[in-house]
Amino acid sequence: MQVATTSGKYSVKHYPDIIQSWKKEGNYFYFYTSTTILELRVISDKIVRFRYAADGQFQRDFSYAVSEKLEESPEFFDIREWADSFEIITTAIRVFVARENLRITITDTDGRIINQDETGFHWQYYLQKGGKIVYCTKLVQEGESFYGLGDKPTELNLRGKRVENYGTDAYGYAKDTDPLYRNIPFYYGLHNGIGYGIFFDNTFRTLFDFGKEREDVTSFWARGGEMNYYFIYGPALLQVAESYARITGTAELPPLWALGYHQCRWSYYPESKVREVAKEFRDRKIPCDALYLDIDYMEGFRCFTWSKESFPDPKALLKDLSAQGFKTVVIIDPGIKVDPDYPIYQEITQKDFACKRADGAYMEGDVWPGKCVFPDFTDPKVREWWSGLFKDLTATGVRGVWNDMNEPAVFELGTFPEDVRHDYDGENVSHRKAHNVYGHLMSKATAAGLKKHLMPQRPFVITRSAYSGTQRWSSVWTGDNIASWEHLWLASVQCQRLAVSGLSFAGSDIGGFIGEPDGELYTRWIQLGTFHPLMRTHSASNETGFNQDPWSFGPEFEAVVKSFIQLRYRLLPYIYTTFWQYAAYGTPMLRPLAFVAQQDENTHDLNHEFMLGDSLLISHVSEAGMTEKSVYLPEGTWYYYFNDQRYTGGQAVTIPTPLAEMPLFVKGGAVVAQYPDMQYVGEFKIMEMIQQVYFAEGTTHSILYEDAGDHYGYKTGQYNLVRFKQSSEPNLFRLKKKFVGKYNADYTHHRIRVHGLPFTPKEYVLDGVTAPLQPEHFVDGVVELNLLRKFEELVIR
Ligand code: GLC
Repeated sequence: MQVATTSGKYSVKHYPDIIQSWKKEGNYFYFYTSTTILELRVISDKIVRFRYAADGQFQRDFSYAVSEKLEESPEFFDIREWADSFEIITTAIRVFVARENLRITITDTDGRIINQDETGFHWQYYLQKGGKIVYCTKLVQEGESFYGLGDKPTELNLRGKRVENYGTDAYGYAKDTDPLYRNIPFYYGLHNGIGYGIFFDNTFRTLFDFGKEREDVTSFWARGGEMNYYFIYGPALLQVAESYARITGTAELPPLWALGYHQCRWSYYPESKVREVAKEFRDRKIPCDALYLDIDYMEGFRCFTWSKESFPDPKALLKDLSAQGFKTVVIIDPGIKVDPDYPIYQEITQKDFACKRADGAYMEGDVWPGKCVFPDFTDPKVREWWSGLFKDLTATGVRGVWNDMNEPAVFELGTFPEDVRHDYDGENVSHRKAHNVYGHLMSKATAAGLKKHLMPQRPFVITRSAYSGTQRWSSVWTGDNIASWEHLWLASVQCQRLAVSGLSFAGSDIGGFIGEPDGELYTRWIQLGTFHPLMRTHSASNETGFNQDPWSFGPEFEAVVKSFIQLRYRLLPYIYTTFWQYAAYGTPMLRPLAFVAQQDENTHDLNHEFMLGDSLLISHVSEAGMTEKSVYLPEGTWYYYFNDQRYTGGQAVTIPTPLAEMPLFVKGGAVVAQYPDMQYVGEFKIMEMIQQVYFAEGTTHSILYEDAGDHYGYKTGQYNLVRFKQSSEPNLFRLKKKFVGKYNADYTHHRIRVHGLPFTPKEYVLDGVTAPLQPEHFVDGVVELNLLRKFEELVIR
């Protein structure tokens, strides 16, 4: 096929021809055409990897994304030969490889098509775009929707769109700006109730087209490297997410404080200002765990230094903050200032650890400190050195590190020129191949250093750029957004999309980074942020003197903001349990409704509603002056959080939206664990655990995960997993609990609050002992019991 370009002969597309031979080696199958080899690897009954050597020569099989823990588990697989194809069978899928041209068709065991190549794999020599481009084209199935791909600021369903991965410092981005900071070449398809995923593990610039160029074709391609993708069958989208986490790895449990509230600004300085902010939080009794120091804490923006003038005694400051319950997070950028008197610059040049241009000169470019060089994080020796640099910071009392500008960002050019060289773990490649993993590997080295030097405390890392797999060591935020209602909407879709792309531990700059929100926008943003795994206010308000603190907008707004931050802390056991599901299984913490109710087509194009964990459904207030909002509830029973009004799902309902409330629903059948109010994690020993129980007909299950909230005892059994089972009969409600694990929580008081009982009970039975219900047990329509011991079965009748 000839494509019109100025150098037409270089843009010929090449296609594999007829299969001439094949072989099987264990769970690998190889198919040979006159030019091309397809390697098909059965990883499990639902995961198959396709890898193509266009010219008969495979490249090094190496990945920064794939977890070392990925294990193959094909229980059963076999191959059959047909006249026109080969068929590889597992217990869940069948993969047909066409003899004529290696074209792939994948069906379930009933023969229903899950995914099918259009022309399938092909390639093109295109020197203007860097060399060899590898493509794969697939047919769009009827009614198909597409999701995933990281931080794209656009509708969740990507059908009809084209997106690109090439990490970019996208200051003040807008809806549909592309590419942004993160590079996640992974998408989901959903059609006819069937969900699957495709993870294209290629670090070059990658592009994905979901029926934009041609309505019935989806394609993905890369400007270099190999066509190397993992096909993942669901059929449930959440199972696809879990399999993707099996490939690219799961997060570790963060310290519990990192799920509290974070306050950031560019920048809080000098130290008197930091002390003042800390004092305001505690005086006003607004809970907060983390305070951030942006670039002005450094001496002339030199990483790993402290400004002598603004922070003369950082150790004393951090100690005082810690005594008030604040954990300090500091920013560390990749740019190392060119300054012969600066020890880190001396080291990086002496050790020859900085990136170089193709001609051998250092890659120099301007960022905050002026002219800088940049560590080559793709070199394991450099990562090791970088990790070591965190020793002093942690000794000073730093508890978390914020990695920024690591797309990598360079002022004049945007990023590095393509000729820059990288070690790439011994491969020696150009920036074209290393660009999309630069921030991924920087945050990896940072996390390794923090982990080592904070041991036995758990580290906290937040990074701006990321590649598939960054979730193994870091959280992310959505970058330099704007204080506008549109950006509040973007924050919601971006965090949902990041969650289904493996990066659940994400949040946006609450209130907007650029510009100034008014009290209403800030308050509505805090409300949404309460339900994002990472809850952080941040703003670039330094220059203007504008304050974006919870109390900056007057008492009316402060009261509501405070009530939502308090709610965040009450919900910590629930949010931590949700994090544990994510850490253990890779289940996204935020779940767009299409992922919760994929059989219900009404959910496929929803952007506004999502679930946090198994039991909370959230829809944020999305416009100024909004007085009510229509929210689609999937099938089931739902309670409006603020008044326990009960709704039946499978329909949209309209909810009034006074400033102090937002559309927040609890799923009937849920047990939502809550802590008493606190100012910060670790403020006091928690003596009471509150279980908010929401009645539903039939049998339902919930879980609660607990451990010490820090350290690694949970790895040797110091955790407690409680499984709740609720069931009902006419005029009877039963709650059973089962415990696994060796962790003994401190609390001795168990407050059980049962919402929505459809009958008026007279007594309760606790592990076989009956007692009458008294008037004090009925509180605002809720049956409330204060128990002084653990129990295994509670009946209310
Ligand atoms: C970048 C970051 C922003 C930070 C600023 C100064 O713009 O995205 O969060 O505050 O740099 O360090």
